[in-house]
Amino acid sequence: MSLPIPFISQLNSEEKQAWLANLKAALPEENFVLFEQITEVDKKHCQLAIVANPEPKELLAFSQLVWVQSVWAGVERLVSEVGEQPFDIVRLVDPVLSQTMAEAVLAWTLYLHRDMPNYRLQQMNRCWQQRPYVPASKRKVGILGLGELGRGSAIRLADNGFDVMGWSKSKKEMDDISTFCGDEGLTKMISQCHLLVCLLPLTDATLKVIDEKVLLTLPKGASLINFSRGSIIDTSALVTLLDNGHIGHAVLDVFEQEPLAPDSLLWAHPNITILPHISAPTNIESACQIVANNIRQYRKFGKISTVVDKIKGY
Ligand code: NDP
Ligand code: OXD
Repeated sequence: MSLPIPFISQLNSEEKQAWLANLKAALPEENFVLFEQITEVDKKHCQLAIVANPEPKELLAFSQLVWVQSVWAGVERLVSEVGEQPFDIVRLVDPVLSQTMAEAVLAWTLYLHRDMPNYRLQQMNRCWQQRPYVPASKRKVGILGLGELGRGSAIRLADNGFDVMGWSKSKKEMDDISTFCGDEGLTKMISQCHLLVCLLPLTDATLKVIDEKVLLTLPKGASLINFSRGSIIDTSALVTLLDNGHIGHAVLDVFEQEPLAPDSLLWAHPNITILPHISAPTNIESACQIVANNIRQYRKFGKISTVVDKIKGY
């Protein structure tokens, strides 16, 4: 039997068992075990680990790791908490996840585009008022981040008739989508957006990148969707600008602290829609197939090609 590959996470025991079963089904020849089942002796020999938002100290108990596979796409915690360790970090890149995120981006873009938050408020006030209809082609939607999730979301919006723009670190070329990069590009894009969608990874460079100045650059009444990480947006600036009407509405799926505290003022804000980090849940079956392919690649070639750049942070 080959060396055990631990699954390390803070999930509940039912969820951990489900991961174990799916990993075994995807790659029966490997010896997947839960962290809790692994012996102290084996901890000194394991080369690989599969993790889902693990406690860093559990991971640090393994002294011979070569690489660690996250089944989350965002790896900012791993990079900041164990990035100094010699092992590589591999994040989840799964076309199924990209499709799920694209669906969420389309759903909540349509929610804002068709004025649903306002019609909901009108209903609560028994108000019969028809608001002007704006065609999708007249809505400029800017996507921050044109990576695995941003690209698919941009294409899905363009396919549904929206006027789509995208911003990334390096310049991209995409059919039917205007692309921007750099600080100047950010200002140029944001100043035109009716709706801004955040799909950036959280890194030193993106921490609070959407600050008061950037939010003020949005046209008055623009809306915001944040599906990546809470700390990318300056929340208190956002609330001020929602209060004074510069920003129309914000759909927030991610927060600096999760779960969002019951006494957070965000819950009751009339112009904020709160979601409990559900825009793109990992699909356990497809994720296990991706993990299995990565392990097969490593067994065959002795290395793994798609590792996180720890300096860039994503
Ligand atoms: P990728 O790494 O594939 O893409 C990141 C994109 O952001 C790239 O286009 C990159 O530019 C761009 N970028 C990074 N830093 C900067 C910067 N400083 N300035 C401008 N652009 C920048 O990530 P994914 O698309 O796979 O995932 C994005 C994030 O989504 C994850 O990190 C995670 O936080 C979040 N997520 C949220 C989920 C949820 O359910 N809410 C589910 C899954 C992920 P370039 O292409 O030039 O490198
Ligand atoms: C992820 C997430 O990063 O669920 O995969 O946020």
